[in-house]
Amino acid sequence: MPEAPFDWLDRHAEQRRRAGLSRTLRPRPADDPVLDLAGNDYLGLTHHPRVTRAAADAALRWGAGSTGSRLVTGTTALHGELEAELAALCGAEAALVFASGYAANLAAVSALTGPGTLIASDAANHASLIDGCRLSRAEKAVVPHADPEAFAKALAGHDGRAVAVTDSVFSVDGDAAPLAALAVVCREAGAGLLVDDAHGLGVLGEGGAGAVSAAGLAGSPDVVTTVTLSKSLGSQGGAVVGPARVIRHLVENARTFIFDTGLAPAAVGGALEALRVIREEPGRPVRTREVARELSERLASAGLLASTPDAAVVSVRAPSPEAALRWAERCREQGVAVGCFRPPSVPDGISRLRLTARADLTAAQVDAAVGVVVGTAPREPIGD
Ligand SMILES: Cc1ncc(COP(=O)(O)O)c(C=O)c1O
Repeated sequence: MPEAPFDWLDRHAEQRRRAGLSRTLRPRPADDPVLDLAGNDYLGLTHHPRVTRAAADAALRWGAGSTGSRLVTGTTALHGELEAELAALCGAEAALVFASGYAANLAAVSALTGPGTLIASDAANHASLIDGCRLSRAEKAVVPHADPEAFAKALAGHDGRAVAVTDSVFSVDGDAAPLAALAVVCREAGAGLLVDDAHGLGVLGEGGAGAVSAAGLAGSPDVVTTVTLSKSLGSQGGAVVGPARVIRHLVENARTFIFDTGLAPAAVGGALEALRVIREEPGRPVRTREVARELSERLASAGLLASTPDAAVVSVRAPSPEAALRWAERCREQGVAVGCFRPPSVPDGISRLRLTARADLTAAQVDAAVGVVVGTAPREPIGD
């Protein structure tokens, strides 16, 4: 008898389970007592009363949904305000809001390239950039991680349009891309530079203006930035920020802009208010970076292999996927939620815990988190 069409799914799930790679959903209660070092609310704004009030007000005024795609009925005055404020914070000419950072990345990569274009892409880039490369049907060169010379080599000799694509802060290890050096390489090669600043906006740069601004590249005509509204801005959604002609091109050509419902008003209103809070409280990004450094230093001095953070993310190596999973479980049992990254989310095959700093963590909470992560660490040795 031939196998039923989806029988293979059970075998596949079993293989993943045996390899310690199963993924499961865990709905969290609204009043979860667990200390959150797993989320991406870097500035502690998701529950900020001004941000939640603005989100609620926007829903009451404009509706629960945006009612249509941005080019039909899905653009409200609030979307325009958010785009103007995002562009102002990043020092760019214009911005365009998408339903997610994922959609913004698909749009930016695929609409700015295409068959005949060369994309040089950092080997550790986020999945959404990789998927944008796949969608683009451009020629691709995957370049060793954070290596400007490798980018230069990949771009050299290409005849025609080229774009280098990189995360600004890499989501798993939290290390920063060498953006200033990459910009020089791109300029010399006549290539554009596309930077995903999902983990830099709100954390790096003056007043949280982001990694592109921190690298002195704000307003550069050859640099395009994508951001998410779902991390530092405590909301949901994404945006592309850059030269006005890039934004005009995306409005007319980017499929994830044209064929997707506009971002819900509540998310727009929340993100807009978050930008205003950041402007009034420039100490928040500074505090987030301090907390990340403190977490990393204290974990390392307890003998763990903790990364040195360039922004809010600290990763800690685990001996195996199974050990990483057990470690994260034990942390949770003791009241601390941490991220657990295993292959294929980590292409180098090294499993890790991922801890995120927040501006609103108190000294006592940092103490408690360090105590739990150190106290539950696996005893097995960690290989190279
Ligand atoms: C580097 C990076 N880019 C893009 C995204 C996607 O953003 P969003 O969650 O808004 O779709 C993420 C989110 O996890 C990310 O870490």
